[in-house]
Amino acid sequence: MDLKKRVDELIKIINKANYDYYIDNTSNITDQEYDRYMQELMMLESTYPELVREDSPTVRVGSKVLDKFEKVTHKIPMLSLGNVFNEEEVRSFDEKVRKEIDNPKYVCELKIDGLSVSATYKDGVLVKGATRGDGVTGEDITNNVKTIKSLPLTLTEKVNIEVRGEIYMSKKSFLEINKQREKDNEPLFQNPRNAASGSVRQLDSKITAKRKLDCIIYHLPNPLDYNIYTHYDALEYMRKLGCPVSENNVIANNVDEVIDYINKWTELRDTLPYEIDGIVIKVNDINDQNKLGFTARTPKWAVAYKFPATEVTTRLIDIIFTVGRTGKITPNAVLEPVKVAGSTIARATLHNEDNVLVKDIRKGDIVVIRKAGDVIPEVVRSIKERRTGAEERFRMIDTCPICHTKLIRKDTEADYYCPNNECNARNIENLIHYAERDAMNIEGLGESVIEDLYNEGFLKSITDIYHLEKYEKELLLLEGYGAKKINNLKEAILKSKDNSLERLLFGLGIRQVGNKTAKLLARQYKNIDNIINATFEELNSVNDIGPIIAKNIVEYFNNEDNIKLINDLKELGINMTYISNNNYTESDEFLNKTFVLTGTLNNITREQATEIIESLGGKVSSSVSKKTSAVILGDNPGSKYDKAVSLNIPIWEEDEFLEKINLK
Ligand code: IVH
Repeated sequence: MDLKKRVDELIKIINKANYDYYIDNTSNITDQEYDRYMQELMMLESTYPELVREDSPTVRVGSKVLDKFEKVTHKIPMLSLGNVFNEEEVRSFDEKVRKEIDNPKYVCELKIDGLSVSATYKDGVLVKGATRGDGVTGEDITNNVKTIKSLPLTLTEKVNIEVRGEIYMSKKSFLEINKQREKDNEPLFQNPRNAASGSVRQLDSKITAKRKLDCIIYHLPNPLDYNIYTHYDALEYMRKLGCPVSENNVIANNVDEVIDYINKWTELRDTLPYEIDGIVIKVNDINDQNKLGFTARTPKWAVAYKFPATEVTTRLIDIIFTVGRTGKITPNAVLEPVKVAGSTIARATLHNEDNVLVKDIRKGDIVVIRKAGDVIPEVVRSIKERRTGAEERFRMIDTCPICHTKLIRKDTEADYYCPNNECNARNIENLIHYAERDAMNIEGLGESVIEDLYNEGFLKSITDIYHLEKYEKELLLLEGYGAKKINNLKEAILKSKDNSLERLLFGLGIRQVGNKTAKLLARQYKNIDNIINATFEELNSVNDIGPIIAKNIVEYFNNEDNIKLINDLKELGINMTYISNNNYTESDEFLNKTFVLTGTLNNITREQATEIIESLGGKVSSSVSKKTSAVILGDNPGSKYDKAVSLNIPIWEEDEFLEKINLK
């Protein structure tokens, strides 16, 4: 028998079986048959090493052990993506694109939670696999990549091509592997992503082979070289070559369709066999992509929408207590650092004593952490099954960790408070809040500067901010404080005096008055005296202000110290009136009404439309319901239009809307 011919024949059969199984989800031979062919091929290769072909599927079970990974320089850098966390940010990505491109179409894809890989084929044969590394230089993981059965060792055409995608571990393999590791007394993987990344980084590819990794290809770095002009066509071309390309990629004709895709997969993500952490949105046309170009590290033609809450597990090393500006004491978990939704976290809130006791969270526990968008990460629960007995039960403190005053707890509240108005921790937090970006926005007066100035005794209260120049000489002597830094700070402080009222209102730190409520109050009452004089009933009747906030506002302005602070600030020249940033005044057609925008507006951006509606006293919501007062219709509207029609909600064409706001 011609042995070489037999080897070729076996490889053909096995490759086809792999393709059928991993790409087409069909199977034309049994597992036993497959194993027999594989055995025969391995036997032939070990007896006649000269017959080993580069694309032999026997490499799938692993090859020789390396002592290190070689470095690989990417011809075209492997970039990462910028992140957005909500619908508004998706829309503003679209607006930025539309500033450069007329009527862009997008491709929406699932964002697979794994690690990116580059695979290079020469004459249709897989010759190199590399990690992303720092984007310019990665590591050569060819042997490991060859163990990934869904990635073809040979393409259907003899082309030279580099394709990129994501290596991941399916939920099923992850569970199986952890089960086995538990039996073997080995540490468990925290999540499929960690498991995939640990497996790819094995120097012994036989171990990688056992880990059953998978891959999805989503990027062709140089489509124009193949006469391909859209990203979608690039995906289809790579599919035709035999690459594992997702079935869930779609073209979206406008941003509303992008949002629909996001909503659909937010619902369905749990039904997928692998974990996704978001949706990737890419401009479809390659020439448009090139026109938009790149920032330093990310393309301007693509963005990743990250799902709100992501959970990971890690160890809780300690529980410490912090004092907020209202004196509220919060227990915080100190964690073994762990990556969640793109950032590394080492702290998470435990909210209050009851929460820790009810969840029975102990020092030393393995805990589940959740991070949602840019909200503070929280400890969701502890994993009791993983306790060793060395964990310590939680005990609440009874004195302030900073000023040692005895803590108080109001009957109706879950929180403990430090009642000492002079507590250093409270004062510092107050100042930080007053100067922060959404409040008075005093650039250069951040957390560490405030702590320095406080500790030096230059800054004890809010009014001290406006007297800081008295200490100019002393400041210059402090380490890290040059003339330029001090000048910039002086200017920022001066500038903050002209802020519109809502910034001051938010900065004062009235309980539960966030920046949205502050804006609402400022718009409604126009100046601080009107708010000071407003009764509980009046405040309570303002749309979106409930009885608790109304009570807090009344209490705040009933306090003499607070009134003194307002008067001092007035004297220092701090503006106390609402300055609208446009010329609109409230109108009945908009006041207290809710609007939904759909489709592309031609004469005005969504942000502008929203700003105008809000300054006319209305609200903009992202979804249509019975309560919607009108839907404002742009080009290529999405499903919101259909919903509005079915609910009989008034629909305003763009021109009609422009007329109502006197822009036409
Ligand atoms: S496109 C220039 N598409 O997400 C194109 N990335 O947070 C860059 N990822 O580094 C990548 N699924 O590892 C793209 N469908 C997808 C993706 C995807 C997962 C990963 C990839 C990337 C990271 C960015």
